[in-house]
Amino acid sequence: MTYKLLFVCLGNICRSPAAENIMEHLIEQALSDRFAKSIVCDSAGTSSYHIGSSPDRRMSATAAKKLGIKLHGRARQFQKSDFQDFDLILAMDQDNYQDILLLDPTGQYKKKVRLMCEFCSKHTLKEVPDPYYGGSEGFNQVIDLLVDACEGLLTSLRSLEEC
Ligand code: 4NP
Repeated sequence: MTYKLLFVCLGNICRSPAAENIMEHLIEQALSDRFAKSIVCDSAGTSSYHIGSSPDRRMSATAAKKLGIKLHGRARQFQKSDFQDFDLILAMDQDNYQDILLLDPTGQYKKKVRLMCEFCSKHTLKEVPDPYYGGSEGFNQVIDLLVDACEGLLTSLRSLEEC
């Protein structure tokens, strides 16, 4: 069995690549090799603004400083086929969530789409705020929220291991 997770934000250069790489890091650290290999993480943006770009330098620097991880990947746009290709689609904020659902007018994939912050247990914010036009505090907050949510996601993945 393969379980596929897709993290989605607006530009796919700040929040969602950070989420993808943090999740991969936690999976590698916390799960057995065999189970870890069965989980796939990817990310995408609802916009086409930054297609082909590397993760934002400020986001990469914050991930390196706070977690010691390097962000990899190139931005791509979310596409309709992602609904079939992924088991769980995690939107960073309400706008991303609504924009994803607009591509599924019949609602057949709605159950696969969730807000990332639903998986937080330490933070009460309902969205991962867009850090792009702000200062370093926003990038730090993104990392803190994503670590919390990714830990929650990891707990729900563990229940799959028993299946
Ligand atoms: P992200 O951040 O959605 O977390 O990748 C943004 C990146 C770029 C823009 C907005 C948000 N932009 O407007 O170009």
